[in-house]
Amino acid sequence: MGHFTVRRLLIDLETPLPRRWCRNDPFMTALFNALSMSFPVGEQFFIDSVRAGFRELTPEQQLKMKDDVDGFIGQEATHRRIHALFNQHLEKQGLVNTWSHRVMRRLAGLKDLEARHYLGITAAYEHFTAIFADWMLAQHHLLDSCEPRLKTMWLWHSAEESEHKNLAFDLYQALGGNHAWRIRWFRRVSFFFMTDLARQTVRNLHSDGALWKLSTLQSAWRFLLGREGLIRLTYGAWRQYYREDFHPDAQDITLARRWLADNVSQFAVVAAADDRQAAPSPESGATVTA
Ligand SMILES: [Fe+2]
Ligand SMILES: [Fe+2]
Repeated sequence: MGHFTVRRLLIDLETPLPRRWCRNDPFMTALFNALSMSFPVGEQFFIDSVRAGFRELTPEQQLKMKDDVDGFIGQEATHRRIHALFNQHLEKQGLVNTWSHRVMRRLAGLKDLEARHYLGITAAYEHFTAIFADWMLAQHHLLDSCEPRLKTMWLWHSAEESEHKNLAFDLYQALGGNHAWRIRWFRRVSFFFMTDLARQTVRNLHSDGALWKLSTLQSAWRFLLGREGLIRLTYGAWRQYYREDFHPDAQDITLARRWLADNVSQFAVVAAADDRQAAPSPESGATVTA
């Protein structure tokens, strides 16, 4: 298993952002905005799940996985901080985040589960983020005429999701999580993720006054089902998760490595992979400031 560098993104999120920051396209903007709205609460859940899972490991397993757990927590903590800053702009634009409230209500109903079930849920969401990340890195030209600061934010986040995609899955397996439960959680997560994403996107489009426009429908069709469409190109990778012998490692991370190598000026290294002693400990509860 590899180690993960924690990076602080060097983009300006103070200066106001254009309302339709993604190609002046209401649909693409609404969908990316919806995803971002889910991240602060979702990624906090992933961090908490990984911390809970780490505590359940044997000392030998902890020794083996500590560096990767530290790196995962550092990366996700940085993502949620950056997306929370971005989400403040969305709030100022009048968008209302209902997704995060639904997630918080559901999480309240999931109290008292064993740690491996939290990891099963997290691994399922991480599969979604990993296949979205691979698609985004491969189709990065779709963001060419978007606000450059946000193009960098999405590609940096995608690269790191691709880097750490194994962690929750490996922790789930180390805790004895089985295939049947992994699939059960994946079915539920798939249902909730798709419906939550659709609901928040529709709500964002409604706020933008673009919900019932033909051009919005055309853009949605192109973006989701067109030649480079998100659903069309990720469906096969989504299905792979059902295989009994599935492991996230099967997904290539060349594109993530290339983006990180080509964009070193866009971030500062907070904790390098070989210098993990400087990173927060899973037990410390520390978060990394973006
Ligand atoms: Fe993330
Ligand atoms: Fe992640």
